Amino acid sequence: GEKVSVSILGLGVVGSGVVKLIKDHQEELAHRLGCSVHVKSVLVRDLEKARDITIEETLLTTNPNDILEDPEVDIIVEVMGGIEESFQLILKAFSVKKHVVTANKDLVALHGAELQQAADRNQCDFYYEASVAGGIPILRGITDGLSSDRIQQVMGIVNGTTNYILTKMNNEGVSYENALKEAQHLGFAEADPTADVEGLDAARKMAILGRLAFSTNIDLEEVEVAGIKNLELEDLKYGERLGYTMKLIGFASCQDGEVEVNVQPTLLSKNHPLADVKNEYNAVYVYGEAVGETMFYGPGAGSLPTATAVVSDLVTVIKNMKLGVSGHSTIKPRFKKELKTAEKRMGQ
Ligand code: NDP
Ligand code: HSE
Repeated sequence: GEKVSVSILGLGVVGSGVVKLIKDHQEELAHRLGCSVHVKSVLVRDLEKARDITIEETLLTTNPNDILEDPEVDIIVEVMGGIEESFQLILKAFSVKKHVVTANKDLVALHGAELQQAADRNQCDFYYEASVAGGIPILRGITDGLSSDRIQQVMGIVNGTTNYILTKMNNEGVSYENALKEAQHLGFAEADPTADVEGLDAARKMAILGRLAFSTNIDLEEVEVAGIKNLELEDLKYGERLGYTMKLIGFASCQDGEVEVNVQPTLLSKNHPLADVKNEYNAVYVYGEAVGETMFYGPGAGSLPTATAVVSDLVTVIKNMKLGVSGHSTIKPRFKKELKTAEKRMGQ
């Protein structure tokens, strides 16, 4: 029968989850799509590396052109991380009319608007559900579920690593260093966990959320950020005794066209719904003018939860291909600010 070919850039925590999910859920995918989904090739850095995932060696390559120049590949999944290299590869993918799904919030927060423009120009789809809050379908929640409303505020726990560290410190008295090591071992932390613990990862996700919720472009430099690096176990215990729990909270609001976004450690009353969100779990509270309060909750990091978001994006892209509506992504903010085109930036 009909089949759609997908190639994956990266076979780490998320990439392995994507390969596993496409294989394990092939019946469901075929039923929902009326065609089969198959992994054609996978880009890695090191062909010799021992991997947890079973995969045919012949699928692996270290040359991105093997993927980008393969006419059979319809969709590229970027789960290798980093900024410059993945930016160039995705632009090249659009230029050869391949749709792209990514989990890369660093890239989307910085160059999301330019990438969307490049996708639009080439009638390609560009989806990035996994980039914010792992397995929680929050971008769809905002862009589809609440598309009829005026969103006023978004607030949440959007970094799994720091929430895991704070939970372990708070509930089990584990030291910051050991809790961070566990989070790294479990695959929640970034390759370099500095961005997690300094709040930058959460800031990037809040910038993406704010951009979609308020249909405006948000510069990362405009986001005020403080992380959890300097928090002491003693500070947390003190808060606990007074009935408060320390959480790293991201906040984005829009009032009369003024957008404010920040990330900071916050003492929450234990009665607050976000105070109960533990370990790598995330939760995003969205307040809409008409709907009022909504809350989205689920695993914010990890291999299979994140892979569900990536593969659900694949399902959307394939449905769009079949309907002939590719390049009309619903994840598309209107921009108030002038944007440099990707081509101009690359020519600089
Ligand atoms: P990993 O470090 O586990 O995996 C990265 C993979 O990409 C590895 O297979 C690596 O190859 C490959 N890779 C990296 N750079 C290159 C390169 N220059 N050329 C070829 N291959 C390369 O990362 P994760 O899977 O954890 O994260 C991937 C992306 O997903 C990141 O953008 C991250 O922010 C995002 N993300 C991660 C989540 C998580 O829970 N881990 C959740 C949500 C998003 P090799 O194996 O040979 O070293
Ligand atoms: N390092 C990120 C986190 C992965 O801990 O939330 C999910 O984006």
